[in-house]
Amino acid sequence: MGRKIAMLGSGFIGRFYADSIHSQRSKDRIVSIYSRREESAQKFAADYETPHWTTAMEEAINHPEVDVVCIALPNNLHEAAVMACCKAKKAVICTKPLGRNAEEAKRMLEAVEAAGIFHGYMEDLVYTPKFSKALQSVQAGALGRILWAKSRETHPGPHSEWFWDKEQAGGGCILDLGCHCVEISRSFIGKDIKPVEVMCWADTQVKPIDAEDHAIALVRYENGAIGQFEVSWTFRGGLDLRDEVMGTEGTIWLNNFLRTGFDMFTTGKGADYVAEKAESNTGWLFPVGDELNDLGYNHMFADMFNAIEQNKAPRESFYDGYVVNAILDAAYRSAASKLWEPVKLDIWRGLEGVAKGASLVDYDEHHYLIKEEKTHFGSTKLILKEKQSGKIIEVTR
Ligand SMILES: NC(=O)c1ccc[n+]([C@@H]2O[C@H](COP(=O)([O-])OP(=O)(O)OC[C@H]3O[C@@H](n4cnc5c(N)ncnc54)[C@H](O)[C@@H]3O)[C@@H](O)[C@H]2O)c1
Repeated sequence: MGRKIAMLGSGFIGRFYADSIHSQRSKDRIVSIYSRREESAQKFAADYETPHWTTAMEEAINHPEVDVVCIALPNNLHEAAVMACCKAKKAVICTKPLGRNAEEAKRMLEAVEAAGIFHGYMEDLVYTPKFSKALQSVQAGALGRILWAKSRETHPGPHSEWFWDKEQAGGGCILDLGCHCVEISRSFIGKDIKPVEVMCWADTQVKPIDAEDHAIALVRYENGAIGQFEVSWTFRGGLDLRDEVMGTEGTIWLNNFLRTGFDMFTTGKGADYVAEKAESNTGWLFPVGDELNDLGYNHMFADMFNAIEQNKAPRESFYDGYVVNAILDAAYRSAASKLWEPVKLDIWRGLEGVAKGASLVDYDEHHYLIKEEKTHFGSTKLILKEKQSGKIIEVTR
């Protein structure tokens, strides 16, 4: 028997989630759909053969057949939905960002833990096949000590009015897209490494809104590694999702969406949907083979539902959502103060006091190795540091 799910929200992500949950002959089924408007609840129910629909959120959560509640609602409604799941003692999985800020996220984390219910944070971008393979390599030490992990998500802006309203959304592109980037960098650097402080530039460069539509930030971690995010709602050309990781022994570049190795040209005859937030369907296009898979939804739901069945925590829990919110709160404070701002973590379950990794490589008894390089004229150049004097010397062989 599979999971029986109540989907809260029938919009953009609710439908992606439903496509993924019901895909590939899956045994999991959505048995109840809640939507704000009757016609959209009914339409979703018809499209996904969902036996029960309602415009009352608690009715979907409390539906006797439902054992997992999937929150796909605007950001300002996550907390109320989570609290209703705690009351009903039903497993809950919530889309990103968990809260509009760390205060909301902390309340949600504390509530699910007090209620003793399963909780999963649906950060799909740390479940993509490319990301998972990259993370495996990083964890196996292929890149050595991780020094810098950058993630970029930029597109021409979200698709519903509530995103553009600071009160309902809780922020602009920092919260909407930065939450993905922060969790990607954090995973590469190590989720048990404490994020310490954030420096962020943000501005409203184009759109007539109160929130930021473009931002860049640095997140410093306790072990000296640096995370970076670049986010924008003003980027033209589609959905740009890229990660870069740099370590003492190697580098990874991931191009997740816009340039995936699938290029197509069409004059526009028979033009159709290309990919999320593609701005054109003629000319040279960059389609995505299988969005549900390539964006990590399938792997994410598999992890969530397996974890429920095996009575263990999923890879991403509300605790992770809370840490992400705390980092983003510091980014907002830094954008306002123009200073490095500390990450305030009332709850921290990772390592404490991790020192910066050692970077001295012995060449011989008297020297450290700085660099060795073969030249185009056939010799080997060594740059060494004398241990005793600290002098830097060059040896050519
Ligand atoms: N990759 C991802 O993980 C991803 C992508 C997009 C959106 N999201 C998240 O999913 C959530 C929903 O976003 P979306 O893009 O599906 O939004 P959307 O506007 O397309 O859909 C929201 C749905 O919520 C329901 N709703 C109930 N009360 C509402 C209210 N007062 N106002 C508006 N809608 C109401 C409606 O059914 C509506 O269809 C957000 O938290 C967003 O950040 C996640």
